[in-house]
Amino acid sequence: MSELIDPFGRRIEYLRISVTDRCDLRCKYCIPEGFTDFEEPDNWLSFDEMERLVRLFARLGLKRVRLTGGEPLLRRNVSELAGRIAAVPGIEDLSLSTNATQLEKHAVALKAAGVSRLNVSLDSLRPERVERINGRPVLDKILAGIAAAKEAGFAPIKINMVALEGDNDDEIDAMVAWCMEQGFILRLIENMPMGDTGRKVRYLDLQPVKEQIRQRFGLVETVLPGGGPARYLGTPDGRFTVGFITPISQHFCATCNRVRLTVDGVLHLCLGQEDRFDLRSLLRSGATDDDIVRTILNAVAKKPERHEFREQPQKLVRFMSMTGG
Ligand code: 5AD
Ligand code: SF4
Repeated sequence: MSELIDPFGRRIEYLRISVTDRCDLRCKYCIPEGFTDFEEPDNWLSFDEMERLVRLFARLGLKRVRLTGGEPLLRRNVSELAGRIAAVPGIEDLSLSTNATQLEKHAVALKAAGVSRLNVSLDSLRPERVERINGRPVLDKILAGIAAAKEAGFAPIKINMVALEGDNDDEIDAMVAWCMEQGFILRLIENMPMGDTGRKVRYLDLQPVKEQIRQRFGLVETVLPGGGPARYLGTPDGRFTVGFITPISQHFCATCNRVRLTVDGVLHLCLGQEDRFDLRSLLRSGATDDDIVRTILNAVAKKPERHEFREQPQKLVRFMSMTGG
């Protein structure tokens, strides 16, 4: 076998790379307030190591890469890394997920480096709620970052909102209206029970929300090309779409096309399972390209069928930013 196809027939063509596990925010469903046990810099994969892995993955048919975190813009010179990954033969699409607090100063460089798509986390448009949910008073910085990205020519920009009962569920309509007006794609996300923080927060079932939005805004089922796990509704003229990422109420594992690399070089096969392969040790022990390719193929051959967030919510100790959101 020389292709990334797992035992369930899923073709893996998408790698999400967490370039740092650090973050300047403390979203209540993610990094615990006061947490300090971040990865040691010595264990961070270098840009050379990341690029090498992407080249080897691309040889096996990888087509898309997303840079994520933690907050990826906290990793120094991340635009340089983006440029190097975008230039790898076979990589057709490079995207980045950010909380946008630092996006204002990075937007132009990221675009120039070849990042084609941006996802921005934004849970509320009210300053005091952003402070409460995301842990810091940063709404102005986020909005400035989003505006800079728009100005730099990123289109479409996706806004990711984790729907939280009692925190922002009364703001979903306002977020839909704002994204419509701004020309952004909105994605509503069900909270996952990752780590104690993820479990502390009640998840909001998005199925009824979807029906309400469909009726209120006159939307129809829509398919977005390359559209990952979200299920989309859109205006009939196609100018606005809203996606629903529903890992709990309706999981989408059967079409999972991705694996994840953490900043310390561990390959995770599933967000909700413990299966992991330490590529850093391999890289640093002088492994040949063939050795690494073999390990990647072996890892993909062990990709779990699905997460068990519903059946075993206690299972995952690691919270989202440790693996990469
Ligand atoms: N459940 C769902 N999404 C989460 N994120 C972080 N923690 C969780 C969680 N427990 C997502 C947020 C953010 C991205 C970085 O990771 O949507 O946008
Ligand atoms: Fe940071 Fe994203 Fe986690 Fe929020 S969800 S604390 S922005 S990594």
